[in-house]
Amino acid sequence: MTILVTGGAGYIGSHTCVELLSGGYDVAVVDNYYNSVPAVLDRVEKITGKTLKRYDCDIRDRGGLERVFSENKIDAVIHFAGLKAVGESTKLPLLYYENNISGSVVLFEVMEKYDCKKIVFSSSATVYGNNPIPYKEDMVTGDVSSPYGRTKHFIEQILGDIYKSDNGWSISLLRYFNPIGAHESGLIGEDPNGIPNNLMPYISRVAIGKLPQLTVFGGDYDTKDGTCIRDYIHVVDLAKAHLCAVAKILDTTGIEAYNIGNGVGYSVLDIIRAFEKASGKKLNYVIGDRREGDLPAFYADATKANKELNWHAEYDIEKMCADSWNFQKNNPDGIK
Ligand code: NAD
Ligand code: UD1
Repeated sequence: MTILVTGGAGYIGSHTCVELLSGGYDVAVVDNYYNSVPAVLDRVEKITGKTLKRYDCDIRDRGGLERVFSENKIDAVIHFAGLKAVGESTKLPLLYYENNISGSVVLFEVMEKYDCKKIVFSSSATVYGNNPIPYKEDMVTGDVSSPYGRTKHFIEQILGDIYKSDNGWSISLLRYFNPIGAHESGLIGEDPNGIPNNLMPYISRVAIGKLPQLTVFGGDYDTKDGTCIRDYIHVVDLAKAHLCAVAKILDTTGIEAYNIGNGVGYSVLDIIRAFEKASGKKLNYVIGDRREGDLPAFYADATKANKELNWHAEYDIEKMCADSWNFQKNNPDGIK
């Protein structure tokens, strides 16, 4: 059984490749290394003792994708490839629409041509926008605040239209909450280029001494300690959810969305304390202004994924922080 993983050299993709290879699947990766390096895939092979097929290819390159499908019998696709920086997407919306949406359309067309109609898509909790919490899959989506978020919403809609036109498709939309943590080997983890936008890589770089100080974005929210609440999920738990989704789509047809989160909300200060405990380092931080576009609090109702995918998150916040720190400590200059 061969799974094509687009964006397989990225943060979530690489952890999912480890789980797929360990689970006995053959894996083909398509990545243009825009936000990753090929060495990540060497490390995936080192962790698993197995090899995968790699294609240095952009998902917008139809010819390149056709080569992948003609050289392999692809049973299902897990589609991670995309740009994900929310702030950047507000400055460069066309880049986001072109890369994420046009790229996805090319991928779906090639899948259709090669009669591969099974896909797991990386969506995001961002599609819920300003809904009451906890978020549930049947809530109205689309009231999103950034071009990045809109690309996720639009791709969900495109996949919905594809299914309506052809009930032979089997589509799983995984709405991720906030993935953090790393593989416990310390070989792969989140390794963003430049100054990180997201909380955990920022904290890790302050702890390792690469950045001077963390700014907590807002201390005056109407939450238990004034800082924002999020549903953090260990990236290995998230990776495993993809295997559950693949098992489901291989067996059925239809389109379903699933929340992939722990269902527990932690504040920014909770994360800082848990990280300090796990790393034994005191974090230098200040409370600053709110970040534009941040919601005060959101977390998942993950009951649907628990029941229908038979997926349950295993790891707690301590393990997430310990593994993030282990990766940072072992790779102070990132993955080269
Ligand atoms: P990542 O940037 O680490 O991985 C994405 C990978 O896709 C990278 O290796 C990048 O080089 C590749 N890529 C980008 N555009 C491509 C293209 N046109 N052709 C081929 N490869 C391309 O990001 P991640 O954190 O692993 O996220 C994976 C997916 O999950 C993304 O679609 C992201 O939007 C989504 N997601 C991420 C989060 C999160 O917090 N990390 C949350 C919700 C959803
Ligand atoms: C953000 C995106 C979301 C995207 C996800 C992964 C927004 C509104 N949402 O989620 O669409 O899927 O990233 O790319 O941008 N924080 C600080 N200081 C920092 C960084 C973050 O206090 O230096 C706080 C934030 O205010 C937030 C929490 O930490 O409360 C988590 O932030 P982050 O990791 O950026 O994720 P989200 O904003 O939840």
